[in-house]
Amino acid sequence: MPALVARGVRKIYRGGVEALKGVDLEVREGTVTGLVGPNGAGKSTFLRVAATLLTPTEGIVIVYGKDVRKRADDIRRVISYLPEEAGTYGYLTGREYLRFFASFCEDPEEAFKRGLEIASLGDAINRKTKEYSKGMRRRLLIARTLMGRPRLAIMDEPTSGLDVLQALAVRDIIRRSVEEGSAVLLSSHNMLEVEHLCDHVYLIHEGRIVESGSPSELKERYGARSMEEVFREVVS
Ligand SMILES: Nc1ncnc2c1ncn2[C@@H]1O[C@H](COP(=O)(O)OP(=O)(O)OP(=O)(O)O)[C@@H](O)[C@H]1O
Ligand SMILES: [Mg+2]
Repeated sequence: MPALVARGVRKIYRGGVEALKGVDLEVREGTVTGLVGPNGAGKSTFLRVAATLLTPTEGIVIVYGKDVRKRADDIRRVISYLPEEAGTYGYLTGREYLRFFASFCEDPEEAFKRGLEIASLGDAINRKTKEYSKGMRRRLLIARTLMGRPRLAIMDEPTSGLDVLQALAVRDIIRRSVEEGSAVLLSSHNMLEVEHLCDHVYLIHEGRIVESGSPSELKERYGARSMEEVFREVVS
């Protein structure tokens, strides 16, 4: 069963902006699927629809066999979502934050331990998160997203704001989560990361999927040396 299937998804925001103009997309189990595209292309909108936070204006999204319109509660039990910009309740320490979110997981103790390991914040885990740097906060949010072994993790620019080593570590964590059974749908502006991390990539432009394939298929199709070149060819 695919982790997620989207067919003909349109989203018109109140006020009239048509952010998605008929998106077809699939996330297979055991894979990392990337959604890439220019600013304003509709990535975050699609991820919010997939995460059951926005209702599509038209079209269907099925997550593990369940329709986001009808079975949102069931879906929320098996997915987790990392927003593009998210806070961490500054008055809590990192440890308290993870403890709190672990309590919603099926096995709170296991999730908490796993969260601590993913966050890898050392002694800073005992500091209030309002004192964290952007990267530390992101790391904590990533730990929260993956600690409960979600069947589908939806991550909006997971490594944005992370330094090279942190981004590499997070990439490894994402890969490991997939090996352990999660499917991942993520957005990214880092084409090098997409190339290394994603099994399948969808290019979205002005609310439409304009290209898709594995990074190597896409490079071959465009005679490109990198995903950056593919991006440039497709979008310009
Ligand atoms: N809450 C909202 N209300 C109205 N329009 C919105 C809202 N959120 C996004 N939009 C519009 O929808 C379109 C797609 O935005 P979205 O945030 O999905 O793009 P994105 O691909 O995630 O961009 P970025 O790379 O900058 O994060 C844009 O035109 C944006 O202005
Ligand atoms: Mg976005």
